[in-house]
Amino acid sequence: MNYIPEILQDLLSLTSKGLVRSEIRELLKLTRKPGIISFAGGLPFSGLFPIKELKDIVNSVLDSEGEIALQYGPTEGDSRLIDFLAGWMKETEGADVNKDNILVVSGSQQALDLIGKIFIDPGDPIIIGLPSYLGAIQAFKSFRANMVGARLDKQGIKVDTVADILRTYTAKGQKIKFIYVVPDFQNPSGVTISLERRERLLELCYEYEVVLVEDSPYRDLRFDGEPIPMIRTLDKKGYAFSLHTFSKLLFPGTRLGWIVADKAIQEKLTMAKQPTDLCTSPLNQSIVYEFCRRGLLKSHIPRIIELYRKKRDIMIKALEEYMPEGSGIDWTNPEGGLFLWLTLPESLDAGELFPKAVERNVAYVVGSAFHFDRSGHNTMRLNFSYPSEEQIEEGIKRLANLIKQELSQTSLF
Ligand SMILES: Cc1ncc(COP(=O)(O)O)c(C=O)c1O
Repeated sequence: MNYIPEILQDLLSLTSKGLVRSEIRELLKLTRKPGIISFAGGLPFSGLFPIKELKDIVNSVLDSEGEIALQYGPTEGDSRLIDFLAGWMKETEGADVNKDNILVVSGSQQALDLIGKIFIDPGDPIIIGLPSYLGAIQAFKSFRANMVGARLDKQGIKVDTVADILRTYTAKGQKIKFIYVVPDFQNPSGVTISLERRERLLELCYEYEVVLVEDSPYRDLRFDGEPIPMIRTLDKKGYAFSLHTFSKLLFPGTRLGWIVADKAIQEKLTMAKQPTDLCTSPLNQSIVYEFCRRGLLKSHIPRIIELYRKKRDIMIKALEEYMPEGSGIDWTNPEGGLFLWLTLPESLDAGELFPKAVERNVAYVVGSAFHFDRSGHNTMRLNFSYPSEEQIEEGIKRLANLIKQELSQTSLF
């Protein structure tokens, strides 16, 4: 007889009792059925992983520094990698990043967890977009944050709503802890926050003394248009801090990211990281550092951009060609990243449509999964980085046929 489930009720913390299996991960299991075309994942295209170069690098790292690479390392990260990252940010962003401001983390997902750990007490209000990155919602939820939502439009998060929230909570005597945004090619919507809104967000941070978390995994994957400065770079007072990762630039299996933050925040994050994992894998840091030192990161990124741009174009063209005209269906046209966002007419529910789409061998992520308040019933996220070019065209055709059929049925009533 197994008594553990009953005993657990008395043993588990309130936080862990609040943890539930992600519905979306359960849904994603359905998308693994053979023959399905999946726009559901958030995966980079694995055909571009630099496996050949890495084989050589792994050997050379083990030969030249194996005894160090296989040991524990400093919590802050490998100083050679930190130096490289400071130089990289200077080169790509014109940002004067001091080495003391960088903390290497085990993926930016760890950064989100650490941010929750150092800022959120149960019930603390934070501002987050509707929609937002699911992993951030999960991380902040696990610390029992009181998430307060601001909707997005094609210019990114609505700053007037952010201002209203700050005003209202301040009037109630409640301190908003931080604003969380993904300014460039947001996951899930693909939209980019305009310069004007970035500046306004900073003004609000200064006015209400709130910090801003700029989560930036896709920024270097811009296909068109001019880059808009990072909020962290526009910030002259140290209120914004940014999260970066090698997951989408190289491969997620390395679990390597970095945080750029004001020294006081960086120190707190380092202290929070220590009991979590002591340090980020020194072996992975050595390998990625060597990859970067050889100039391979610089030559690798344009290849990804070129492929994803092509795939984005194919998806947009297929949407224009196959989606029913005049039906009120709308989608974003991202200038970079991995995703676009499709909005159906109000009468349709992307969740109800999902099993029918899977029956037709096409899958997406239901948009409500990215809304902590479960709104966004008529929205969906479509990933274009992972499926092949042929699959993108065929998958959109299948989806469009399903939507046409559903619309013709709803208009009968
Ligand atoms: C906005 C955002 N933040 C963080 C992450 C986590 O990335 P990492 O692989 O670095 O943990 C992702 C992954 O998709 C993401 O989209």
